[in-house]
Amino acid sequence: MHAAIIMDGNGRWANRRGLPRAAGHRTGAAAVRRTVEAAPDLGISTLTLYAFSEDNWSRPPREVSALMKLLGRYLTQETSRCIANGVRLQAIGRRDRLPAPLVALLEETEHKTAGGTRLHLRLALDYSSRQSIVEAARRAGGTATEQQLSALIGPDVDLLIRTSGEQRLSDFLLWECAYAELVFTPRLWPDFTAQDLAQAVAEFHSRERRFGGVTADPARRTA
Ligand code: FPP
Repeated sequence: MHAAIIMDGNGRWANRRGLPRAAGHRTGAAAVRRTVEAAPDLGISTLTLYAFSEDNWSRPPREVSALMKLLGRYLTQETSRCIANGVRLQAIGRRDRLPAPLVALLEETEHKTAGGTRLHLRLALDYSSRQSIVEAARRAGGTATEQQLSALIGPDVDLLIRTSGEQRLSDFLLWECAYAELVFTPRLWPDFTAQDLAQAVAEFHSRERRFGGVTADPARRTA
């Protein structure tokens, strides 16, 4: 299963405690660790996390720099754990505007974890889904089929989770979410636990996916 998460609510989590927003992001990084650890046992083989959107560059420079530092620290601290746990880490999004040391770290982590087969962890950094669709269309040329574009854009998402009560896609995996089940939770990202992830996966399994067709089981057919 491919699960994707819009990790939202770090700022509100910090505000409620009278802490700087960076403290929310730091605690959010701990939630990332928990989530990555819990995912494989819940049947998740690919996990895409929205860590920094193209729009996030408009945040105050201090917050952007705190986020970049945090990402660097995460990569430094987690690489060995990723290798031990069979996690293959990969970044998606633009790299040319990220700080050079972070790009170097990303490449090193991608290289070192390349053999992981338990979980494909994709971190969306300086990411815009519309941009990724435009790029794929340019590369594929005018006569490209849906399948060819899909192969360039990325794997379909089965389950999309957004935390903090917001119910938007915010330019995240728009093409890939064509048939995704959407689960919104009021939980703020720093408070997100393995149990919350398990609950979202259970919600996914309880839904009937018809992909536009009709159900095979008449007892479950809805109007
Ligand atoms: C949204 O909360 C969160 C982000 C913009 C950044 C996500 C980053 C992390 C979870 C931490 C580091 C990530 C990794 C992979 C180690 P917000 O700041 O928009 O919250 P708000 O809507 O309450 O203001």
